[in-house]
This record gives sequence, C-alpha cells and structure tokens, in this order.
Amino acid sequence: LQHLLTLEGVSCDTLHHILNTAESFLSLSDHDVKKVPLLRGKSVFNIFFENSTRTRTTFEIAAKRLSADVVNLNIEASSTSKGETLLDTMDNLAAMHADMFVVRHNQSGAPYLMAQHLNRIDRKDIHIINAGDGRHAHPTQGLLDMLTIRHYKKDFTLLRVAIVGDILHSRVARSDIHALTTLGVPEVRVIGPQTLLPSGLAQMGVHVYHDMREGLRDVDVIIMLRLQKERMHGALLPSEAEYFAHYGLTTEKLAYARPDAIVMHPGPINRGVEIASDVADGSQAVILPQVSFGIAARMAVMAILAGGHGA
Ligand code: CP
Repeated sequence: LQHLLTLEGVSCDTLHHILNTAESFLSLSDHDVKKVPLLRGKSVFNIFFENSTRTRTTFEIAAKRLSADVVNLNIEASSTSKGETLLDTMDNLAAMHADMFVVRHNQSGAPYLMAQHLNRIDRKDIHIINAGDGRHAHPTQGLLDMLTIRHYKKDFTLLRVAIVGDILHSRVARSDIHALTTLGVPEVRVIGPQTLLPSGLAQMGVHVYHDMREGLRDVDVIIMLRLQKERMHGALLPSEAEYFAHYGLTTEKLAYARPDAIVMHPGPINRGVEIASDVADGSQAVILPQVSFGIAARMAVMAILAGGHGA
C-alpha cells in the first residue's frame, strides 16, 4: 500500500493484516511499552480542513508512539486563507521533507487529488492517509470500528450489524459497510428515514429498514450515527425531538437487539438526538473503547504504509 484513501476494494486479507498489526500494538501498550521506533526519522503532517477531536488527536498520539515527528498544520492560520491551493500547500510541506500526510477535507476526493499529484511528480516515497473526505470515506474510522467489533465479538462471519441514522451524509457508514461486507458479516442492516438513505444500498449488500425496532431485532452490533447537519446545506430536517422519537437509541429500543449487543458511535455524540444519555453511558456502550482502539488502528496503518509491517 502507498496510500490509504478508502476501504472499498481493500481485500479481506489486507484488512485482517491491518487488524492483526493493530492488535500487536494493543498488546504492546498492555505491557506498558509506549513507543516503538518504526517511524523514527519520519515526519507526519496532519492537515485538517475540517474540525476534529478524536481523529486528529489519535493520529498524533499514534505517530508519536511510532517515534515519528508530528507537525499539525493550523489551517485557519495557514496561507490557504491567502488563496494557496491544496496541492501547492502539499508541495510546500513536501519541500519540508514530509513523509506522510494525514488529511481531512470537506470535499470528497481531496485526498485522491493529492495522491494523483504525488504520482504525477513521481513521489512514491510520500504517503496519504484519508482522515475523512466529505461524505465519501473515513477509512481509519472503519478500521477502528472493525478492531472494536473483532475485540468484543471475535468472529465477523456470525454477526448481524445495524448502522442507524444519517447514512446519506456519512463517510463512516460507507467505510464500515465496505469493511463489514468484505470481512464476511452475513447481515449488514441500515436503519433510517428514506430521506437520509443514499441510493445503491442494495448493491452494497445491505438490508434497509425504516422502522428502528424491526431493524434492531436480534442484532449483535449497533453503530449509531449523528445527523451531519454540516453536509445538509439547508435540507428540510425533522425536529430533533421528532428524530429522537423515531431513530434515537433508548433502552426500550436497545432491548430489541441481542442482550449482549454492543453500542458503537464514531463520535461526536449528540445526546438526546440520536442516542439517550443512559445508553451512551450504559454497560453495552463501547464508544470510548472505540477511541482507544483508534490509536492502535492508526499506528497499524502508518506502520504498514511506511513499510515496517508488510502488505
Ligand atoms: N469520529 C471522528 O471522526 O471524530 P472527529 O470528527 O472528532 O475526528
């Protein structure tokens, strides 16, 4: 792998290799080993054109645990405000000897443009990791979600997984669906109002439900999503109370899932909109462990791209 732009088309073997590598980093931290030298001497540049709490911070922690030097570009204070293009910005950072760019952008496809540009200028030594582009893909979130599911449920081939909410605007849903179907999950469901579901879901191998209780029946894993208003551009929305009544996860609705079902959410959560506080903080929620698994998943991706861990 030179870049990680999407999970679409990534093979089952490669996904397992990344998850196995991430698990090896998890067991290191169990033994209190905080740092490994795999990226010593390398520079990782975080360039986030959209806000982030979890992804940016865990990428920084992950890179530091691999002994890389980390630069966080402050986009608001950068020369993009003076009209510098994304590719000119990248070229200038590459001239500062960047080895890896972790990029988040509100435009779907921005990391692809960067990767194509690197190919054109024959810089195969520089790697791009997509940290979320528009509504298209969030591959490392998909990977940390798979690491979480494998940790709690062990065997993907025995699972029913439901993804609930604003699928239309969700890059996480797309990356999760690609990973879950590739890893052999036999039943992936999406649950949401028609207006928040994209076309083409059946071709992606998922089952569509509009009734949340029906969709949650007997599932092993529930992945909740927030309403991504920043990508709705004035579309008519239900009131938050109305949305919560139909698609908010409450203890009453959770009871339709298997008793040992886990509740996931990529964050940020909106309490009382897509998830009740007592569920978000309850014994079935693994929302904060997801964040911790994000460090190991991102370490694995960076280590593999930099050539230190096969694939
Ligand atoms: N899950 C996720 O991408 O969170 P942030 O927007 O805080 O990075």
